[in-house]
Amino acid sequence: MVDLGFEVEEIVEGRARILVPKTVRGKGPGKKEGIPFYNPVMEINRDISVLVLQKCLPGGKNMVLDGLAGTGIRGIRFALEVKREFSVLLNDWNEPSYELMMRNIKRNDLQNAEAGQEDLNALLSAEEFDYVDVDPYGTPVPFLDNALRGVKEGGVLAVTATDTAALAGSFPKACVRKYGATPLRSKTQHEIGLRILVGYCARTAANHELGIQPILSHSTDHYYRTYLKLEHGQKATDNCLKKVGYLSRDPSKQETLMEREKKEGRVIAGPLWIDNLWDPSFLKDLRPRYYMSAGTSRILELLKSESQIVYPFYSSDEIASRLKVHTPRLVWIIEGLKDDGYEASATHFDPKGFRTDAPIERIQRLFKKN
Ligand SMILES: C[S@@+](CC[C@H](N)C(=O)[O-])C[C@H]1O[C@@H](n2cnc3c(N)ncnc32)[C@H](O)[C@@H]1O
Repeated sequence: MVDLGFEVEEIVEGRARILVPKTVRGKGPGKKEGIPFYNPVMEINRDISVLVLQKCLPGGKNMVLDGLAGTGIRGIRFALEVKREFSVLLNDWNEPSYELMMRNIKRNDLQNAEAGQEDLNALLSAEEFDYVDVDPYGTPVPFLDNALRGVKEGGVLAVTATDTAALAGSFPKACVRKYGATPLRSKTQHEIGLRILVGYCARTAANHELGIQPILSHSTDHYYRTYLKLEHGQKATDNCLKKVGYLSRDPSKQETLMEREKKEGRVIAGPLWIDNLWDPSFLKDLRPRYYMSAGTSRILELLKSESQIVYPFYSSDEIASRLKVHTPRLVWIIEGLKDDGYEASATHFDPKGFRTDAPIERIQRLFKKN
């Protein structure tokens, strides 16, 4: 057996038991050394991808690609946990990753998984898959063109971005350079950042005459994640581009709106995705499995609830501070808005955030009543 050149230990995640390097572990966006990287914090990300894959694969024999596989944990979990007819290719151009993935496939006795060692862009320009997972260090931008082309009609592209400092506005120039969009550092920066990512995917897809439909998106810890269903053709592309616009604010009302048109003096961020980040009918019967992490259940519950409301979320702290009142309890705000006949929900983006279709005047009146 090839000497890996680093010590390994066994970890258990989901139904998988795999070997990971002993040294490179921990939080954060990941390390770039040649040693394969396993990040336990990404377990929720991988739990959700198992549930999405279980539901989104079309009928027949499917081909799944874990394109930037690292230790192979995600693809191995797919092979063990997704009860559909498919085979999965775990790909990583890094030699030690490839060796480790082969061992991990063997260790889990998998017949429906194999390892590859190609440059992801080269692989995607030659082959097509029903589901492609792109989970890079930092930005997914260098892979997006090929990833969009490498997904079959009606298939799904899953994208992670860990460059949240750019997308959420800590480094706005980096966001303009990479995504051609202006972010906004604020209490609601992560929803804006995620919408910039999805909007960028839509604009890139349009270059290839493809439309995207996000079926599930989330912002967790240090990363954003979105699952995009792809539709081919001019009509789908044109419809999709109508869902890219700007975040604007009417200074007199303090109301934040998502608008198709770029209105002079009102735009505060964008271009970005202005439609739903989720497909509520897809989310409806997604249930975490008993062995998955508690965080996965929490996020799914919140996503199901907030996916019904296509308005940007409000930070209760921000509204309270503008009005110079105490921040009311979130449950009280949501109940108050619902009692008045509006839709209202907590959001996974912020424990003090809420989403509603109520006009800003109504929200402010409620806060003043507290
Ligand atoms: C963040 S890690 C992947 C983590 C993994 N998906 C997981 O869930 O643990 C990114 C991986 O992409 C690989 N990589 C980077 N550029 C690549 C390319 N052009 N082609 C193939 N692999 C690449 C790196 O070697 C690294 O292992």
